[in-house]
Amino acid sequence: MLHSLRFRLPALFLAGIILAGASSAAIAVGLFQDLERKRSLAELRREAIGIASLYESQFQRFFTKGEEPEKAVLELERATGDRLFYVGVSTTPGEDPLTRTPHLLPDDIVPWRAKLIQTFEFALPGTGQEFLAVAHQVRVEKRAFGAVIVAKPKSQLRERWVTLIQRLGLAFLGGVLIAAGLAWYFGQRITRPVIALARAADEVARGKYEVEVRDVPGRGEVRHLADRFNEMASRLREANELERNFLMTVSHELRTPLTAIRGHVAALREGVADDPELRAESLAAVAGETMRLERLVGDVLDLAKLEANRFTVRREEVDMQRLLDRAYTGFDQEARRRGIEYDQRITAQSTIVSDGDRVLQIVTNLLSNAFRWTPDGGRVELELGADNGSVSVAVADTGPGIKPEEQEHIFRPFWTRDGRGTGLGLAISSELATALGGRIELETSPGKGSRFELLLPARPAAAAAPESI
Ligand SMILES: Nc1ncnc2c1ncn2[C@@H]1O[C@H](COP(=O)(O)OP(=O)(O)O)[C@@H](O)[C@H]1O
Ligand SMILES: [Mg+2]
Repeated sequence: MLHSLRFRLPALFLAGIILAGASSAAIAVGLFQDLERKRSLAELRREAIGIASLYESQFQRFFTKGEEPEKAVLELERATGDRLFYVGVSTTPGEDPLTRTPHLLPDDIVPWRAKLIQTFEFALPGTGQEFLAVAHQVRVEKRAFGAVIVAKPKSQLRERWVTLIQRLGLAFLGGVLIAAGLAWYFGQRITRPVIALARAADEVARGKYEVEVRDVPGRGEVRHLADRFNEMASRLREANELERNFLMTVSHELRTPLTAIRGHVAALREGVADDPELRAESLAAVAGETMRLERLVGDVLDLAKLEANRFTVRREEVDMQRLLDRAYTGFDQEARRRGIEYDQRITAQSTIVSDGDRVLQIVTNLLSNAFRWTPDGGRVELELGADNGSVSVAVADTGPGIKPEEQEHIFRPFWTRDGRGTGLGLAISSELATALGGRIELETSPGKGSRFELLLPARPAAAAAPESI
């Protein structure tokens, strides 16, 4: 649990927030303390200046009339909440200075003679109570004979920032609770897909490719990862399916001609087919089946080489019109037999540099598919066109067309709609087209027909045709 991202992420987030909150609260308290102290000192200063001048006039009167300023002092203490002290010459000798108002402080508590006004801190003798204070000289006839001290108990200052800390603490607690909620929420949002990904990866590792990580919010890295993961899983699925299809198709396609060959050979050996005509037929069938086997093995080998980029293509002058004539005539008879309207349209004359046999292989593949899927009485068209720098060979038919969801499958090896072919024709054709520096494009509307177009460069670029190794 503690090692899980689900716990760690919110914990880290929260720890960061607590740290930031605590340090900013500490800074705020420090600033507040500083400010409070400055404010108090300014206040004490102002009072000290006023009281000192009051004293000076009272003392003047005391000297002349014998009046003492106690009452005024008491009033002042009550009004301001501060305390008043006095250092210097005692007005009544022999009297306990601390019972008087203002209290007389020991002479050495502040070097009052040095400056007109000064700030300092002191502890009250006897009680030990601490004060923040401002001392202001009291001068009569330009002679300083004492100083009034306006003091504020430090405990009063402390009380203020203790309330501040309490409030800050409360706000901090509320903030942390909200942050914890948010941390949990966002942590879940981020970690949920990561955990889903981890689980899906476990499945894939176990060989189950039917996984998909869905509902990943946002467009960040996790989403990217999930998308790529899904892609990867789907490729693994495909590869798996391909392998299965390959084994099934190849073993099936191998077995059928082998069984036929074995049957014919057995018949020939047993002398069943003594009739020379029958024997010739049997031998022709064996030859046909052998060719079929050879073709299959050749196709599989071709595909393997093409996929591994180990395929040799020749470069020679290819007269496209002659090549198409050859391809065309190959299906002439079938067209006539099945009542298929079969046309050849040459709109350009063109000689290109390519591998003639391979181009013929592609066109024948496309024509054979067109004839295979076009119903009797339909139409197949073979077209040659040329654009500057490229030629196009189109094979159009009036077959069933190809459904949108099937369009990406048909170029994959071993995929067939009816399971009767090998599914290698289009796969090899499109790989060959690529190897020749071109491509195959498909236009189709289900129910109406298809049009496969082979586009080839008139002269392949140097890198377009991979050389053999
Ligand atoms: N002209 C076409 N019209 C309709 N479907 C086609 C046509 N050509 C190919 N297809 C579809 O593409 C699949 C793959 O074709 P291909 O690779 O030649 O394999 P195969 O011919 O062995 O089935 C076919 O099974 C068929 O479903
Ligand atoms: Mg085919």
